[in-house]
Amino acid sequence: MTQGVFITFEGGEGSGKSSQVERLGQALDSAGIEVIVTREPGGAPAAEDIRALLVNGDADRWTPKSEALLNYAARAEHLRQTIHPALQSGKWVLCDRFADSTTAYQGYGHGLGSDWVGALHQLIVGDLQPDLTIILDIPVQTGLKRAAIRGGVDRYERMDEQFHERLRSGFLEIAERQPERCTVVDATGSIDEIQATIRQLVRAKFAVEIA
Ligand code: TMP
Repeated sequence: MTQGVFITFEGGEGSGKSSQVERLGQALDSAGIEVIVTREPGGAPAAEDIRALLVNGDADRWTPKSEALLNYAARAEHLRQTIHPALQSGKWVLCDRFADSTTAYQGYGHGLGSDWVGALHQLIVGDLQPDLTIILDIPVQTGLKRAAIRGGVDRYERMDEQFHERLRSGFLEIAERQPERCTVVDATGSIDEIQATIRQLVRAKFAVEIA
């Protein structure tokens, strides 16, 4: 079975993932590579319904366990309807957040721990691993300010600063534990500078010619 390439983008609030994923998608598309850009929670109709439950409402609307379960329910649908079919047909899949977000937000941020989230991960995702995970790292205050300027503050942006510090450390620990998969990119620069770094990483890792 032909397998495509799976790249995930991770980071805290206001780290600029969405613009970076879109731009990389355009560069790959222009190079004649079949690519889809998707996101979590979401990326499939039922998963987008679950996303609305997760990002709206009061900060304490869900217990951390419910939040992790909802994210994995959304992920199960996203895998089934979008990610697996695309990878099996040889496409590149660029995903704005994936399982590391559950480890960082629910595992570290809410203190559920990586064992609990890891068990859920094994049940739903199994052995599928991204080929590359780009972690966009930004100081918490800078990221939250950027997210506020972007507007439409969501449930997670309303959580306290310590929560965001914990999840930032969580992402950095994930990167330290899995250096062959994860690369941390400084997200304080301009959109163009960050995109240039990302394209260089992708060229080096996958031997593709992109602008
Ligand atoms: P976004 O704003 O980057 O699209 O993500 C929506 C929010 O969902 C963001 O605040 C992070 C959060 N999230 C989790 O808490 N756990 C998860 O597993 C995922 C995928 C996202």
